[in-house]
Amino acid sequence: MVPPACLHQVLLSLVLILTSAMSLGARQEPPTAAEQQIYTEYIQWLASVPPEQRGPDMAPKYRQALAAKGTPAAEIERRLEIVDREGQRMEVARWNTFFTADRPRFNLAPNAFLIQIAEKRTPGTALDAAMGQGRNALWLARLGWQVTGFDPADQALDVAQRAAAALGLTLQTVNARFETFDFGENRWDLILLSYAGCTGGVVEKVEKGLKPGGIVVIEAFHEDAARQFRIGGSICATGEPPHAFRGLRTMHYEEPIAMPDFGAQPMRLVRYAGEKPRP
Ligand SMILES: C[S@@+](CC[C@H](N)C(=O)[O-])C[C@H]1O[C@@H](n2cnc3c(N)ncnc32)[C@H](O)[C@@H]1O
Repeated sequence: MVPPACLHQVLLSLVLILTSAMSLGARQEPPTAAEQQIYTEYIQWLASVPPEQRGPDMAPKYRQALAAKGTPAAEIERRLEIVDREGQRMEVARWNTFFTADRPRFNLAPNAFLIQIAEKRTPGTALDAAMGQGRNALWLARLGWQVTGFDPADQALDVAQRAAAALGLTLQTVNARFETFDFGENRWDLILLSYAGCTGGVVEKVEKGLKPGGIVVIEAFHEDAARQFRIGGSICATGEPPHAFRGLRTMHYEEPIAMPDFGAQPMRLVRYAGEKPRP
């Protein structure tokens, strides 16, 4: 979930790779000096790992590295928890800054693939997962959808709510993460994952959360883009969504080279829309 446009900080994006793969709760208060030190040591270790050995979940490797240095098991887990928590805190801060910047570095317009898929559908309940500042949620709400969106970046949610109020629209916004948001059961006519990762950890939640006849819409970076540009977080492998969403009927699938909503030049993307069959 790291747009190329804001990837000046390689290490930070690597941290996000670790943190997005772990699922401990975020804490609001700033870290102590000792916790900061633990986090710094993790960053230093990460910088020493050859790029080809880095992956979406660095926790097992870091566990091994600490164990090899003789760190007791309980201390290893304590450190991993601190690294995870601090990474989450920094990620929220980074997205808050990104979405409240004076000069936006992303496409402020609603996602074109969402428009293509959703504009002819009858409005119902929509979930905008990792909604950011709400460009897509607002477009859906304007068409009459009842929209709920969640994101851990509280200031981005505030931007969305202010825009909704200015437009006389209603949005339900929830300060939550994929790991904590309850998708419910048979609840949504549309679930959107726009630059919000690929299928990792969400397949069951999406398939259960959709109403029969409901659809999921995904636009994400393809792994080819990640080979060319520094993109952290969850990206899509070739053919991944149609393969992963076994309970859905593929309505649309493509892997075009196109201009991403987050990024300054064309790259390979993944666009997927799948429908939950009616019984
Ligand atoms: C590239 S932005 C996409 C925002 C929005 N979906 C859009 O297309 O405009 C990625 C979003 O993912 C959010 N995010 C990062 N980690 C997350 C997590 N674990 N759970 C939910 N959202 C997360 C960020 O706060 C950010 O708003």
